[in-house]
Amino acid sequence: MEPLQISVVGAGYWGKKVIREILNLAKTTGRVSLCSVVDNSPSVLEQCAKEFGPLTYHLNYRDLLSDPYVSAVHICSPNASHFEVASEFLRSKRDVLVEKPLALRTREANELVRLAQTNNRVLSTGHLHRFNNGVRELKRVVDSGVLGDTYYLRLRWTGLLPPQKERDVITDLGPHPFDICNDLLDLWPAKISCRSRGYRGQTSDEVAFITAEYVNGIVANIELSWLDYEKRREVTVVGSDAVATLDCLDQKLILQRPDGTESIPVVPSNTLGEEILHFAQCVEQKRRAVAYTNIADGTIGAGVVRLLEASKRSLYEDRNVQVKLPEALEIPAGEQTHRGFWKLGN
Ligand SMILES: NC(=O)c1ccc[n+]([C@@H]2O[C@H](COP(=O)([O-])OP(=O)(O)OC[C@H]3O[C@@H](n4cnc5c(N)ncnc54)[C@H](O)[C@@H]3O)[C@@H](O)[C@H]2O)c1
Repeated sequence: MEPLQISVVGAGYWGKKVIREILNLAKTTGRVSLCSVVDNSPSVLEQCAKEFGPLTYHLNYRDLLSDPYVSAVHICSPNASHFEVASEFLRSKRDVLVEKPLALRTREANELVRLAQTNNRVLSTGHLHRFNNGVRELKRVVDSGVLGDTYYLRLRWTGLLPPQKERDVITDLGPHPFDICNDLLDLWPAKISCRSRGYRGQTSDEVAFITAEYVNGIVANIELSWLDYEKRREVTVVGSDAVATLDCLDQKLILQRPDGTESIPVVPSNTLGEEILHFAQCVEQKRRAVAYTNIADGTIGAGVVRLLEASKRSLYEDRNVQVKLPEALEIPAGEQTHRGFWKLGN
């Protein structure tokens, strides 16, 4: 099978990681290949040429829209550009993987989902932890009932960053914790409240505390911070019989019971590599008209954007915000009384 030709748009911190990973996967699996690299900064492209050697480089992503060799793109440009860039590639019938968050606003995210459907293209979101073996194992532990009744979740996404001018901590750090909650619980929250602060001069929010409440009584408490010295990517699930804590960085999972602590073995996965290969597999299967499940589908990305937006609304309006279901995903009345919540896949 021919490798999937992927172009990377945006070659900053994350884009360079993606380029390295595609080049590595091209060598080790032959299932993908790096078609071209786009960045609107000449100095970034110079750095790329030094690090990656002679590749096809462009300053304007629109150059790719008429290039017949470009069949798929991985969008790693800043969050504010995701909607514009992704919609142009979907309209020109390319398969698209967009870094998190899928877009800045729910209506934009939903429009991307609609464009992917209309143009029969794959739309994936960079929800990396869908491919984290630690999260997979934690989900298995929660589903096995070892924890007893799940009471609440605590997620801490922290680390020290200098003051950020055009970014806020909710948009930047919020997507992974929200997505992990959805992955673990198969549910979206019904209610959100959020408090946040920016401390260092005229900057945007640098720390946020979000509480997400689910109709089954579970609560998720999410701490996001660019002010804490320690880099944490940590999920704790507190249940009636045991507590599970996962370090998402090194994929270490600890189970605490009243009679002791045990370490649950996890073989760490290459999350970014798996994410890109899963995207390639979805594209291959769609092209061959084979049924497939995209575990990082654009609809999940749009659900997460809805929660980021609800968090900000809670902040600006100083109140708890009910999370409204998107019209396309409304649950029929009968099912709603039976299940009482919006579950993935509806
Ligand atoms: N999945 C993850 O864990 C993860 C981690 C870090 C960043 N990200 C995401 O990756 C994206 C990029 O983040 P970053 O930290 O690399 O930012 P960055 O600022 O380091 O890089 C962005 C790059 O995009 C370029 N750019 C800006 N506008 C462009 C345009 N219109 N066309 C082409 N290039 C353009 C900039 O010149 C810059 O080089 C963000 O969406 C971020 O949320 C994801």
